[in-house]
Amino acid sequence: MKADEVKKVAVIGCGIMGSGIVEVVARSGADVTFVEISDEKVERGRKTVEKSTQKAVEKGKLSEEDRRAILDRITGTTDIADAADADLVIEAATEDLPTKIEVFAKLEELTRAEVVLATNTSSLPIAELAAATERPDRILGMHFFNPPPIMKLLELVQGLETSEETIEFARAYGLRLGNSTVLSKDRAGFIVNFLLVPYMNSAVSLVEQGFATREDIDTAVTLGLGHPMGPLTLLDLVGLDTALYISNVLYDEFKDPLYAAPTLLKRMVAAGYLGRKSGRGFYDYSK
Ligand code: 3HC
Repeated sequence: MKADEVKKVAVIGCGIMGSGIVEVVARSGADVTFVEISDEKVERGRKTVEKSTQKAVEKGKLSEEDRRAILDRITGTTDIADAADADLVIEAATEDLPTKIEVFAKLEELTRAEVVLATNTSSLPIAELAAATERPDRILGMHFFNPPPIMKLLELVQGLETSEETIEFARAYGLRLGNSTVLSKDRAGFIVNFLLVPYMNSAVSLVEQGFATREDIDTAVTLGLGHPMGPLTLLDLVGLDTALYISNVLYDEFKDPLYAAPTLLKRMVAAGYLGRKSGRGFYDYSK
């Protein structure tokens, strides 16, 4: 299949990343069905897209008419069988290997054999997901960045058996979404998180050891390096639990202390300080 022949896309999971991917795909003109695990989560996913597209209208990036058309192209469901007629599937379920393997095994049964099954995983091995299917040549990573409607990078990850044809399809599809693509081989962290995790962990260590305040660390990076946000604000955006999970995957893969999560990060996650999504992380979002 050619990227411009994709008419319907299924997105598995509609949390922070899934909802952003749903929005980006619907904006490109395709129909999108997203799959969630409960009616409440379907409703929450839909609301997230409604809010984000509303913000785009307010910022003058989208007309109200186009917003309506985008929302009309999106359907939420709790039944993964509704993904059966998709021309492309992008999995953005919880970052947990057994959950993703189960999803890929179901998608293998449900979807046409020629359909590409992509995962938005930020660090897990593509090879493990490919092994749950009979089409390892059509499995790859399509890693979006938070927030997907704004960030223009799509990181493609080529597993051991992913074909060149699948990579070319994903590159062309990325372009159709308005993204630039980069290609990484299948090892933990790919390109971006391999670089990002030690940086974010080092910022947490600076706080933990009392070397600088959270505000000064973030100001130092925004003004001194020109980043749009500092590492602690970024951790709150990504989610401390997600950051911890990725850090553990990298540590497992490389056994290098560079990737070991700082104790403060672990304790904050245990205490429910997950960042923006829980109302509290390094900063307070409850008001
Ligand atoms: N839809 C479309 N466009 C929108 C929009 C929306 N919902 N919301 C804002 N925009 C546009 C604005 O109009 C503006 O465009 P302009 O530059 O042409 O004027 C641009 O986006 C920025 O808008 P704001 O300054 O108002 O945006 P905010 O301050 O609300 O957010 C941010 C800014 C884009 C989040 C910025 O701070 C940023 O880039 N932060 C870094 C994010 C980052 O690093 N993400 C990667 C995280 S790592 C990751 O995802 C990997 C994972 O595996 C961990």
